[in-house]
Amino acid sequence: MVSYKDLGLVNTREMFKKAKEGKYAVPAYNFNNMEQIQAIITACLETQSPVILQVSSGARKYADQTLLRYMGQGAVEMMKAHAAEKGLKEIPIALHLDHGDTFELCKSCIDSGFSSVMIDGSHHSFEDNIALTKQVVEYAHQHDVTVEGELGVLAGIEDDVVAAKSVYTQPEEVVEFVEKTGVDSLAISIGTSHGANKFKPEQCTKNEEGVYIPPELRFDILEEIEKQIPGFVIVLHGSSSVPIEAVKIINENGGALKDSVGIPEAQLRKASQSSVCKVNIDSDGRLWMTAAIRKHFIENPTHFDPRQYLGPARVALIEMYKHKNENVLGSAGKA
Ligand code: G3H
Ligand code: 13P
Ligand code: ZN
Repeated sequence: MVSYKDLGLVNTREMFKKAKEGKYAVPAYNFNNMEQIQAIITACLETQSPVILQVSSGARKYADQTLLRYMGQGAVEMMKAHAAEKGLKEIPIALHLDHGDTFELCKSCIDSGFSSVMIDGSHHSFEDNIALTKQVVEYAHQHDVTVEGELGVLAGIEDDVVAAKSVYTQPEEVVEFVEKTGVDSLAISIGTSHGANKFKPEQCTKNEEGVYIPPELRFDILEEIEKQIPGFVIVLHGSSSVPIEAVKIINENGGALKDSVGIPEAQLRKASQSSVCKVNIDSDGRLWMTAAIRKHFIENPTHFDPRQYLGPARVALIEMYKHKNENVLGSAGKA
């Protein structure tokens, strides 16, 4: 048994308390490899933002859960060294299991040093979701690990589960769920979804430049939920904006992404000022990394050293994470 406290990590309780009071959202960025974690830590340290490092089930399959846990620990050590070198204040870092689907998986992450876990029982019946989430909360809280639950289903890929349609969170269910499970935060479904194709073209309007404008998120449902559980921490998954600039670079350099639509940043800014205290972003990192690498190969066809193309990809990621913290989530300067 390894406690996250011995690794320099923190749980999300204090982060969320400050985010709620300060009306901003803590970034939750997914990572699978060294360049992503370096970029996240560099950007968050330089913008003085708290950060949640997320490990998905795809990441565990790709990179190994144990290695990713050590990378989380390494991220803390790197952050401390760079903070000392640059004369910056250290930032709080949480290591979070994203979309955990069983008690056993959550337990294994808690036992190996994760400071926060999500138990995603949203695909179960309401009663089974409560029972599973409660079981995880009881174990996690014995170790001072914080737990995120989910009500409602997001369309798109939620790790291995693919849902064709969103099922919005029902505000009348949240009080019972939160009271019976004891969760620390609640992920809700109000129109976001996972991946780079969040809306079908026919659901959108087009502006003069031919850019798809998606329908607004269901802020009315969010407000209803806030009325039911005032002050409770809300989490937004599927919050990539799918920047048109990144998609353009990809497609101009041999890519073939079609009908990519994300959540406009203005809506994420609005959500971050509400009870939404955690915003999950993965796909935007994938897009910027791919854009930088595709462009690099077209411009430098003789290159074959991974550092030659992963280096620029890492620079692109740093810029993107800084932008999110400073201009979208409002977490810059809140470490
Ligand atoms: O849960 C959302 C993640 O973006 C899915 O990531 O493909 O690594 O499982 P994954
Ligand atoms: P995006 O696919 O919109 O980046 O969402 C990521 C996410 O919700 C991870 O849990
Ligand atoms: Zn998610």
